[in-house]
Amino acid sequence: MAFDIEMIKAVYERMPARIAAARALTGKPLTLTEKILYSHLWEGTPSTAYARGNSYVDFAPDRVAMQDATAQMALLQFMQAGRPQVAVPSTVHCDHLIEAKVASTTDLAVAVDKNKEVYDFLSSVSDKYGIGFWKPGAGIIHQVVLENYAFPGGMMIGTDSHTVNAGGLGMIAIGVGGADACDVMAGLAWELKFPKLIGVKLTGKLNGWTAPKDVILKVAGILTVKGGTGCVVEYFGEGATSMSCTGKGTICNMGAEIGATTSTFGYDDSMARYLQSTGRADVAAMADQVREHLTADPEVYANPEQYFDQVIEIDLDTLEPHLNGPFTPDLATPISKMKELAEKNGWPTKVEVGLIGSCTNSSYEDIARAASLAKQVAAKGLKTKAQFTITPGSELVRYTIERDGFIDTFNTIGATVFSNACGPCIGQWARPGAEKGEKNTIVHSFNRNFAKRADGNPNTFAFVASPEMVTALAIAGDLTFNPLTDTLTNEKGEQVKLDAPTGDELPQKGFAAEDAGYQAPAADGSGVQVKVSATSDRLQLLDPFAAWEGTDLTGLKLLIKAKGKCTTDHISMAGPWLKYRGHLDNISNNMLIGAVNFFNEKTDNVKNQLTGEYGPVPATQRAYKAAGIGTIVVGDTNYGEGSSREHAAMEPRHLGVRAVLVKSFARIHETNLKKQGMLALTFANEADYDKIQENDSINIVGLGSFAPEKSLTIELVHADGSKDSFAVNHTYNAQQIEWFKAGGALNIIRASVK
Ligand code: F3S
Repeated sequence: MAFDIEMIKAVYERMPARIAAARALTGKPLTLTEKILYSHLWEGTPSTAYARGNSYVDFAPDRVAMQDATAQMALLQFMQAGRPQVAVPSTVHCDHLIEAKVASTTDLAVAVDKNKEVYDFLSSVSDKYGIGFWKPGAGIIHQVVLENYAFPGGMMIGTDSHTVNAGGLGMIAIGVGGADACDVMAGLAWELKFPKLIGVKLTGKLNGWTAPKDVILKVAGILTVKGGTGCVVEYFGEGATSMSCTGKGTICNMGAEIGATTSTFGYDDSMARYLQSTGRADVAAMADQVREHLTADPEVYANPEQYFDQVIEIDLDTLEPHLNGPFTPDLATPISKMKELAEKNGWPTKVEVGLIGSCTNSSYEDIARAASLAKQVAAKGLKTKAQFTITPGSELVRYTIERDGFIDTFNTIGATVFSNACGPCIGQWARPGAEKGEKNTIVHSFNRNFAKRADGNPNTFAFVASPEMVTALAIAGDLTFNPLTDTLTNEKGEQVKLDAPTGDELPQKGFAAEDAGYQAPAADGSGVQVKVSATSDRLQLLDPFAAWEGTDLTGLKLLIKAKGKCTTDHISMAGPWLKYRGHLDNISNNMLIGAVNFFNEKTDNVKNQLTGEYGPVPATQRAYKAAGIGTIVVGDTNYGEGSSREHAAMEPRHLGVRAVLVKSFARIHETNLKKQGMLALTFANEADYDKIQENDSINIVGLGSFAPEKSLTIELVHADGSKDSFAVNHTYNAQQIEWFKAGGALNIIRASVK
């Protein structure tokens, strides 16, 4: 059905020559990660050996996937590119905006009504530009991608950090911002720093209570939330090949929690079985033909220390089930130690709710194993102590598990089935009583457990575990229950033990769904009208930004001199502002409201030089804009760190900020500013930051001869008439200078189409 067999064929055809060239250039055997990366270079056949952790490389991903919250701005921008169709196969998935409250059908109907204008926009824009559209209720982006689009050896980007889930099917899949997705859909290259490589060797075999989730919970404990930064994690060994494909997906999914660029596994029989089971026997057959290219060269796994930057070894024979948390996914506790640690740390031990499912753990195998425990409740005369919820990852899984009786089994323990959507995983959980802020414990099979993430209550202690462990702990109602050793008292007063979970990896009768929820785009979308209401407060079509006026920028006012940390969250806050992700003017009302004003140490309080009064940053900036006066934002070190959120660059551009001058930039934000046609400048001498005064007028001089590696000059005209002048640096290359001149990269793309 909805996958592009010709594209996959082309990837496999070019792989052997490109891999051979990369092997010759690097003069060594290659890891799987290197094979996939070198066979997806923008330049085609490799001509350079890239330095890991150092070289910036242009890639040509095979696919793009977008979820509904991030797709809005990505597609509004894509519309600006003037292309009739997307350049690579792309899909949109409606999963983040559905609130879990009562149960699936009711909640879905409410969401369809509440988010109608967003869904109508996404559906019509997908229809027009050749993008596959997965309707609300179809499922969570990563599960649907695994079921339909992921393929061994492929490369994709997605506008969600858990895009990395597709590594379970042997892909290099990376989470990006909407601007990157827009570029790739418009036919441009995508840049990434060539990653470092962490090898994880899995020996032994999973058994008993231990599940794939425990592998990544253990890895998170070892590497911590930052340990994978700038790295791709490649899993290998007998423990890897003996595990299901969906289990591999779970492990890759949570690679996002260690900061890894992505994670992946070599092609094996489990992947072939999954492809066959999800209607893609032809992809499996093609992958079989190039099997040697879809895994590392044999020398690599024989001598991993020689070829990876770091190697970790985990013995699955002895790996214990883990619970990670509370409040951070890297605080890993083996179940046998939980009693001791919970007591020591004062964690509430009564489990109030067990939640299974999400994009992380929604496979048939996960649900089957969890159901095998639920079945024991009646059989052993037990009563489930905690509430229990299931959030299926897709309609394909939901329909299949219902057909096979698992939903009925869960119903016997009083379970609630939520919609096939993100729901409680992203705070879309209307949990009764959460507003009271009471201290309580929940256990879930999702990936993140930061404070407030699931229900908005900062006092909810959330622990991450496998679906099997979540189910066992929900039955026991006790965080310290160790099902490997402990017994439960049944209704007759007897001591009973839960048997270890069992379940099929894949459905014996095959997957099925009456309506998987896919909407194919129009064959010719030229006549399709994109639906955006002119009165909407959630969506707004973009207007092209104006081109550079061709002169130096003079008489700019200082909007804010930000002090200390200024992340993309400080520049464009999330939370309640998520609603306006598709409306640039409305979301611009959060611009820089989290940044600290150097002069008064306050947030969202800056001086309006036109009136002398202090006020919120966005309102002050709007006053300058109305007066036709450009402004400049000054910042400290690593300005714009955090996420690739393009809103943090688009908002200042939209409101009339002309330049951002800082001690140093986080690189992605710097690039985003350049893409939007802004000037991103750094102090040649960091001490010049101290020269900026609150009432300064600022000139940026030298733009007439703006050139790579050539400094520009800042002139400060202070309130007392005195002046300062100093050099500022930039990292614009020739192409990026053209973006600045044209008023943004999209203006250039559009011009090239016409
Ligand atoms: Fe959705 Fe949570 Fe996954 S927000 S995409 S289910 S990480």
